[in-house]
Amino acid sequence: MAKKTSLLSQGLIALSWSILFFFLGSYLITETWTWGYRGKWTNIHSYLPYKERVFTEQELARYDGSDPSLPIYLAIDGDVYDVTKGAGWYGKGGSYHHFSGKDAARAYVTGCFQDHLTHDLRGLTAEQLKGVEHWKKFYENHHTYHKVGRVHHDPIPENAPIPKPCKSATKQKP
Ligand code: HEM
Repeated sequence: MAKKTSLLSQGLIALSWSILFFFLGSYLITETWTWGYRGKWTNIHSYLPYKERVFTEQELARYDGSDPSLPIYLAIDGDVYDVTKGAGWYGKGGSYHHFSGKDAARAYVTGCFQDHLTHDLRGLTAEQLKGVEHWKKFYENHHTYHKVGRVHHDPIPENAPIPKPCKSATKQKP
């Protein structure tokens, strides 16, 4: 029994040292506590139990930053995020205010900030669809925003025209 206890305590001591070396080593080498990883698992919001809701497009539109008593929400490919902490970007007068209160997934990758404020992804190239995934991950892993639910879109009628490329497209950030 004594042997068993000492084996257990030795194991615990070894584990504690390994944990200490993991974090200290990371900090000494990368100046971060998690070997430079900064994503979903280091995001406190991944562990908080948020109650998610389903929005209609009309409901979501109320959260576009015009009403200072409401949080600011935006959606990308159906996922709705609270971006109130980025009010400087997404609130009234912010450079990315046009993304607020709606699902403008298409505009993220075409740069058509006037004409493509829609979730309609038809006709995009594989590269552009990868871009949409990139922006979805950006919000999912963001340390100050968090997911609040999904927006319900009615199906796009098959004969609806695909949004045309625009002349005023903003270039992707270099
Ligand atoms: C399709 C084109 C673009 C899209 C969709 C886009 C979108 C965004 C978004 C969503 C953010 C994040 C705001 C936040 O933190 O929540 C951002 C940040 C920023 N954008 Fe853009 N952007 C585009 C093009 C550009 C261009 C062309 C420039 C400059 C030449 C630029 C400069 C910046 C800067 C300086 C920031 C903040 C700093 C940073 O996060 O690196 N963006 N952009």
